[in-house]
Amino acid sequence: MSHMVILTGAGVSAESGLGTFRDKDGLWTKYDLNEVATPEGFARNPDLVHEFYNARRANCQNAQPNAAHTALARLQTKYRGRVTIVTQNVDDLHERGGASEVIHMHGELSGALCAICDHRWAAPRVMSPTDHCPACDSPATRPDIVWFGEMPYRMDEIYAALSEVDLFVAIGTSGNVYPAAGFVAEARAAGVETLELNLEPSSTAGAFDTARFGPATEIVPQWVSELINAP
Ligand code: OAD
Repeated sequence: MSHMVILTGAGVSAESGLGTFRDKDGLWTKYDLNEVATPEGFARNPDLVHEFYNARRANCQNAQPNAAHTALARLQTKYRGRVTIVTQNVDDLHERGGASEVIHMHGELSGALCAICDHRWAAPRVMSPTDHCPACDSPATRPDIVWFGEMPYRMDEIYAALSEVDLFVAIGTSGNVYPAAGFVAEARAAGVETLELNLEPSSTAGAFDTARFGPATEIVPQWVSELINAP
């Protein structure tokens, strides 16, 4: 059976109103990632980090999946093969758009994690550093987000999939953050066909076999329709 891995990034959720990181007006032009997206930043100022992710959680709850999310969900049900979505996004718009198999390699805004005992539970709407872990009672609640310097989730599963798929597709990601930015090279080394769908060429554009450029809500549904209707 054919199998494809689709890696998604912030560009897929951009037209739902969630900001990207590195574009003009992106989140990392307004916030210092060392202060809000590293374990060291959290140790220095947990209030600031919680404030940042509480705001992102609220934005996410107010956002709706767009035509790119729903097209990818349609692909998962209609494609003659398996479609694994690996996302760097911490929002739940793939799932709310109807997707079933989604690997959140950078964690999820909907999750809370105890920094002491690693217990996980559903995030409250607003999280604070004094929240206690329901398992060990430590006041060490953090968002279940993978920060810079931490190991992304489910990497063994992702690398195993990358070596056995027929097609690797990257959508709406700038190719600046590893290990995700290295997936295209990994796939190419395994002889897998590669495709980039993005607003503009990413940092790793040269590594893809083919590419299509434009807003995700236009080019993703178009590509999905072609695949589903292919003879
Ligand atoms: P970036 O902000 O680095 O890149 C967003 C990409 O989406 C760029 O290539 C844009 O050209 C593209 N884009 C913007 N609008 C688009 C649209 N409407 N349609 C299609 N593409 C569009 O975001 P990521 O590559 O996802 O990690 O960033 C990777 C990681 O860096 C994130 O998961 C996050 C961040 O730091 C952590 O916080 C750990």
